[in-house]
Amino acid sequence: RRATHLCQDEVVSFLIAHRGHSSKAPENTMAAFESAVDAGFTWIETDADMLKDGTVVLVHDASFRRTGRTSARVSTSTSEDLPGIDVGRWFSARYANSRVPTLANLVDLMNRTGLSANVELKLSDPTPERIDDYIDTLIRGLKRLDPESLRNRVIISSFNHRLLAALHLAAPQLRLGCLFERSRFAPLKRHSVWRNAAWATGAEFIHPHHRELTRKIVRLIRAEGFGVNTWTVNNPRRAARLARWGVGGICTDGPKGMTPQDAPS
Ligand code: G3P
Ligand code: CA
Repeated sequence: RRATHLCQDEVVSFLIAHRGHSSKAPENTMAAFESAVDAGFTWIETDADMLKDGTVVLVHDASFRRTGRTSARVSTSTSEDLPGIDVGRWFSARYANSRVPTLANLVDLMNRTGLSANVELKLSDPTPERIDDYIDTLIRGLKRLDPESLRNRVIISSFNHRLLAALHLAAPQLRLGCLFERSRFAPLKRHSVWRNAAWATGAEFIHPHHRELTRKIVRLIRAEGFGVNTWTVNNPRRAARLARWGVGGICTDGPKGMTPQDAPS
């Protein structure tokens, strides 16, 4: 059996391909998601924003400047603009003509391959109307998975805890994770910070940056019944240590030594 789990005990740690297999293919493209499947990843992470016309697309930044070499903003673009945006060439000529994937493209891949996804909500220009549309469209899109998969093969995370709370009200069956920015004030050392965020959003998981984590913090979070998933770990020794502490999902760009095929069985 190919090893997909880093570890052990009652917590099963698993690797999540960050923005797809982003060390091998351009981030947040179908090529990166397919490369993750080929490398044995059972989970990918991706970023979901919404176009002006209400289409949910998978892109990290609020504009296509970095990955698409055009200054167009996500929130003012429409589906008709997508064929003209190449989000592969910046990575290498081999990936020229890669298009911005939609949530529907990802769900198709999940249905075809059994891949699971951590979808990070990154709605740019979050006006009240856009938030409502975004939540509705996300739920409609994800419901193309069967109910069991919706529950077990999807984690929705966000730094924007208001979005998570709104999503929880509309679709309580979805499993949510509260992301926390890395901070020099080490807010996760204060119990109330992550506990209140989880209570306010209905989240089951806390998603801190891995540098914020200590064995003690993982133990405290887990003792209150929440799971811990973290990002972005590209060092196998660090990943193994986090797994020993009880971290579940570990996001990685998937360089050598950090793919499921490299993990001990
Ligand atoms: O899942 C968390 C991680 O993806 C957050 O950072 O900047 O890669 O979206 P970023
Ligand atoms: Ca992300």
